[in-house]
Amino acid sequence: MARTSENISVRRAAQGLHGTVTIPGDKSISHRVAILGALARGSMQVRNFLCSEDCLNTLRAMQQLGATVTPGDAPENFTLTGCGMRPQAPARDIDCGNSGTGMRLMAGVLASLPFESRMFGDASLSSRPMKRIIDPLALMGAQIEACGTKPGCAPLHICGRTLHPVSYTLPMASAQVKSAVLLAGMLAHGTTAVHQPAITRDHTERLFAHFGIPCSVSADGLDISVTGPVDIVAKDITIPADISSAAFWLVAATIVPGSRLTLRAVGLNPTRCAIIPVLQRMGADISISPTQLEGEPYGDITVCSAARLHGTDILPQEIPNLIDEIPVLAVAAAFAEGTTTIRHAAELRVKESDRIATTAGNLRAMGAAVQEFDDGMAITGGAPLRGTTLQSFDDHRIAMSFLMAGLAAEGETTLLGCRNINTSYPTFESTLRSITA
Ligand code: S3P
Repeated sequence: MARTSENISVRRAAQGLHGTVTIPGDKSISHRVAILGALARGSMQVRNFLCSEDCLNTLRAMQQLGATVTPGDAPENFTLTGCGMRPQAPARDIDCGNSGTGMRLMAGVLASLPFESRMFGDASLSSRPMKRIIDPLALMGAQIEACGTKPGCAPLHICGRTLHPVSYTLPMASAQVKSAVLLAGMLAHGTTAVHQPAITRDHTERLFAHFGIPCSVSADGLDISVTGPVDIVAKDITIPADISSAAFWLVAATIVPGSRLTLRAVGLNPTRCAIIPVLQRMGADISISPTQLEGEPYGDITVCSAARLHGTDILPQEIPNLIDEIPVLAVAAAFAEGTTTIRHAAELRVKESDRIATTAGNLRAMGAAVQEFDDGMAITGGAPLRGTTLQSFDDHRIAMSFLMAGLAAEGETTLLGCRNINTSYPTFESTLRSITA
């Protein structure tokens, strides 16, 4: 796997950014494919799996449960053979690394299986809230203890057992919580229903359909139900490139004059790609080739530098569909005339870092005007940003977002502590070098 440098420096890309970029597979989909494929009956070809630390941790965890991985022609292509709903107890504690998605989704599965298990993570993951999945799973009869030094946090000790179905209203718009309940629901006897307050990414539902798992979604997309226990039959899958990784290049090419980038086979799931209409509303020059469908829509994206960018108000319903892109969207806002307002995004405070504080702090350090709110920020852009040395706060998306800002700022920008980029985008640094060469 590619190794990202500890500290990365960039200068203004005076010649613009050029090239065709192949972005690795989608992180959310890769976690779910590892989990569902590992429980399936039979073998499947997985193509374009994200070989980042987060997803490899989930894949290794599922191998501990009895799934096998046979290497293919490249690290991202392999054959996954499931344990056919007869998983074994893990021999060791499960290391989830930095991944909230891995830990929360696997909790739904492990709570439903007839053995004890323990999951732990790094310092960042050990301070993220797990009560949000423990509460609904406990309603289903699960026994999960949060043993961390911080209340309600990892490590999680799970005494697995047969769970009963539940009808649950999510207190927040979270695809991780929704998916934890649905994954437990598929192993319970009967129909589990989840009501979400807003549309969140629907990869779990789409993969349920891919694997023939009985799942229904209401016309407005807010109510999902699954009937268990299910028999998952392995089926080959190709994972599209991650729109959340593509977002860095979308913003970079938009703010760096004289740029033109083509991003290949990027996932365009409507519950994930609100960054595109928001950037277009701000004046970005983004065009998309006709999309193809294979469970998940995807297509090639061409982005050229914007003639002029202006601020916008992000709509409340757009927030869950661009939640991971907000740091880099805030960077774009700093290069846009007028004010961009981001509210209803308090969830940002419990990501890999407090992304409201870390984004606002780094933008201010580069000279941007930012007002911070409990649930978001307002960025007034248009004045040139200046390069400086910034912390990444051990957050991959903060590191990558501010390297994009550095490509359009005056002087040199250095991001400290960039190794965390390996959790989601191990080839980021080499792509950065190739498009600025
Ligand atoms: C994810 C859901 C989102 C997102 C995370 C991945 C998923 O988190 O921020 O990076 O794969 O389900 P929440 O569900 O906590 O909003």
